[in-house]
Amino acid sequence: MPKCLINGIVHAVVMLTIGLLGCGNIGHIIANYQGNWKIVALYDQIFDRARELAAISGGTPYQEFQEFVSAPVDLIVEAASVRAVRLFGETVLLHDKDLVVMSVGALSDPAFRESLINTARDRKKKIYLPSGAITGLDNIRVGQITPLSRLLLRTTKNPASLGIPATERMLVFKGTANECIKEFPRNVNVSVALSLAAGREVDVELYADPDVDRNLHEIFVEGAFGEIYIRVNNLPSPDNPATSYLAALSILSLLTHIDSPLVVGA
Ligand SMILES: NC(=O)c1ccc[n+]([C@@H]2O[C@H](COP(=O)([O-])OP(=O)(O)OC[C@H]3O[C@@H](n4cnc5c(N)ncnc54)[C@H](O)[C@@H]3O)[C@@H](O)[C@H]2O)c1
Repeated sequence: MPKCLINGIVHAVVMLTIGLLGCGNIGHIIANYQGNWKIVALYDQIFDRARELAAISGGTPYQEFQEFVSAPVDLIVEAASVRAVRLFGETVLLHDKDLVVMSVGALSDPAFRESLINTARDRKKKIYLPSGAITGLDNIRVGQITPLSRLLLRTTKNPASLGIPATERMLVFKGTANECIKEFPRNVNVSVALSLAAGREVDVELYADPDVDRNLHEIFVEGAFGEIYIRVNNLPSPDNPATSYLAALSILSLLTHIDSPLVVGA
């Protein structure tokens, strides 16, 4: 067990132990960061990926999910896919582990979401949704205290990242987050996180623009307090262009502060 010296007395440091479910872009960033936690167990449907990250982090790669979820960890970080959350989320909580969900889109299904929340409540466990590729989720939760009169997410991406051809800026989707999920399932994490924070549906406008090389999220909020405008212009991760660097940093930040007695911006 690691130790530290405070006022001449040696104290044991209890480190947060983590299981990593999904060893792709975000998994690499977590495994390569020296945090105040320890990756103990790793799982990926492509076993070689779990093995590769195990070599970096010192954890054990598992081929069987049941063995992975039974490993001695405090919390499991899902950085895999919506499907993985649906397949494994409940089991993680039933094994008395907290759950961090990156594939927030999985929680857009009300029945699944309620079931997951009920299991967490029964087992006295937490489900954490990191801020991911946006910011401001903290105070958008005031929407659950006083209803918001406007909540709009305007996202602009390069056509290549939306998988559509466009030679000039064009609106490719306008509607609610729940409708957006059906057409652009890989671009909904942010809108679902906003919706869950605010406790209401989110209006979404999705633009393809060949002149942008970053993912731009603009959030417009209006309510009894006044107005909020948030603009997040996301750079890709230095080593992983597919992942917004902010999303990866937000999970590192969550893990760093999860046990802190001082909670800022709650
Ligand atoms: N909340 C946000 O703002 C935000 C931002 C970026 C990414 N994400 C989400 O986080 C997730 C991970 O992102 P990434 O960039 O690391 O993706 P990635 O594709 O690079 O890596 C995902 C890894 O998970 C594995 N995987 C997928 N489904 C699995 C399953 N059912 N069982 C076991 N392993 C499985 C894949 O084999 C892959 O190695 C994605 O779902 C992505 O949409 C969320």
